[in-house]
Amino acid sequence: MAMKRSELNEILRKGKEFCERMNFRLPKWAEWSPEDWESAGHEWDEIRDNQLGWDITDFGKGDYENIGLLLFTIRNGNALMDKYVKPYCEKILIVGDGQVTPCHYHWEKIEDIICRGGGDLICQVWNGDEEGARLDTPVPVNVDGHAYEVEAGTKVRLTPGESITLVQYNYHEFWGEPERPGDYVLVGEVSAVNDDERDNRFHDETVGRFPEIEEDEAALHLLCTEYPEAP
Ligand SMILES: [Fe+2]
Repeated sequence: MAMKRSELNEILRKGKEFCERMNFRLPKWAEWSPEDWESAGHEWDEIRDNQLGWDITDFGKGDYENIGLLLFTIRNGNALMDKYVKPYCEKILIVGDGQVTPCHYHWEKIEDIICRGGGDLICQVWNGDEEGARLDTPVPVNVDGHAYEVEAGTKVRLTPGESITLVQYNYHEFWGEPERPGDYVLVGEVSAVNDDERDNRFHDETVGRFPEIEEDEAALHLLCTEYPEAP
């Protein structure tokens, strides 16, 4: 099911307003219009090639408020192109009240998910196996260097300033619990190189990553999958 451009624009407006309120600043090109991207030369190719910038998904479920995520990739390497040397990635995630990012693991990427403020982030964890099964074995957890073990399916509460390390095959699902109902939680992600085309294993295999878009008005900003080539 496609997402409407008008819906994406509204999500971007609210997300940017929240970042402002949280005093979290983004690179200048976060504000660029589609026309700005049309005229941006090859010196901006790292942003295009590594899919930096705005990213909105409803995970193919057509219910963004409940199952969805707004992200901005601030920096990233590239798993396929040698000229990009960064072995790391950083994103900011704007997570809604009870808005779920569905259960998934990564084959390659190790990541820290960081609750930066605005409320708590609840992160439910399981071990997974190579076939994608979710196991009921105890899960090793690491919260800011504190290593311990929890039962499968435990909901780990991250309060502002706390983070959890998720290693390969570590199934995770998370949602926000903002201070004010209906508001957002600001979440950081610091990880190894991110490759959304190849490195997400969703437990529910019908989950999608990038939405199809129905153009019902002009785009406020392009998403990271939409940049035109340099002129
Ligand atoms: Fe993840």
